[in-house]
Amino acid sequence: MTLTSSTLSPIHGAIVVGASSGIGEAMARRLAREGYSVALVARRVDRLNAICDEINAQLGTKRAFAYPHDVTHFDEVPTLFQTVLRDLERIKIVVYSSGVMPTMALNEYNFEKDRLMIDVNVLGAIAWLNQAAILFDRLGSGHIVGISSVSGVRGRVVNPGYGMTKAALTTYLESLRNRLTRKGVHVLTVKPGFVDTDMFRATGRAASMAISSDQAAGDIWKAIRARKQILYTPARWAWIMLVIRYIPSFIFRRLSI
Ligand SMILES: NC(=O)c1ccc[n+]([C@@H]2O[C@H](COP(=O)([O-])OP(=O)(O)OC[C@H]3O[C@@H](n4cnc5c(N)ncnc54)[C@H](OP(=O)(O)O)[C@@H]3O)[C@@H](O)[C@H]2O)c1
Repeated sequence: MTLTSSTLSPIHGAIVVGASSGIGEAMARRLAREGYSVALVARRVDRLNAICDEINAQLGTKRAFAYPHDVTHFDEVPTLFQTVLRDLERIKIVVYSSGVMPTMALNEYNFEKDRLMIDVNVLGAIAWLNQAAILFDRLGSGHIVGISSVSGVRGRVVNPGYGMTKAALTTYLESLRNRLTRKGVHVLTVKPGFVDTDMFRATGRAASMAISSDQAAGDIWKAIRARKQILYTPARWAWIMLVIRYIPSFIFRRLSI
């Protein structure tokens, strides 16, 4: 079934984890514009408050709410999830966008950086999305959105830990989908290519290679409404990854990507 604006009702709530910048911030803004009450979760309290104030001023109503939280404090998640449920009620969409990608030299092997990526990109996602799965399984409806990456498809020479966390997240989301589709719950795996955010800018790549976070959020919103399972944003990355997936290993290992 394709959802219409009326079935994704304006009185519903959404949670965006990693909403203080980039794709998560753009998603929070988009969902608020679409009529959702939105819980914005991340560590930077000042950023969260500023974004909420801006959204609420623009819409002329209190629709964005800040919940400061570090996703590596896994034990806090069940209680915080219940707090948001009580505050907003009728949560229909949970987006997990928190992610880190520390710079990594080609000859660097750094356990602390790898562990941080596992904690934020994988364990934080599981802590939050397990809560969403429990809720939506009981309700028999809802949308779970995980921001993974095109990076998880091959083991690249750059940043082995990052690609591994995204492969793990993609597989976890596929399992959630296979468990929950039969219960009426929609699970969307988002695989961004290059999106112009703080994380992308830290790589030093040219901004012209990237789409804006607003464009990515627009694609994600459309994919939620269409109950798509996997979204490449921008769409051309589906073709790029088709090629990359089938590059023979003896060639791939000579590339510097
Ligand atoms: N930009 C791209 O080209 C691209 C491509 C593929 C995939 N992605 C994925 O897209 C997602 C969003 O990244 P972005 O590009 O929008 O980068 P970003 O602007 O750097 O956003 C990262 C978000 O993660 C949050 N975060 C990081 N550590 C956290 C922690 N310990 N606790 C809670 N939140 C934490 C940050 O909030 P605080 O610092 O305030 O906590 C921020 O809101 C990531 O999962 C990334 O891997 C991005």
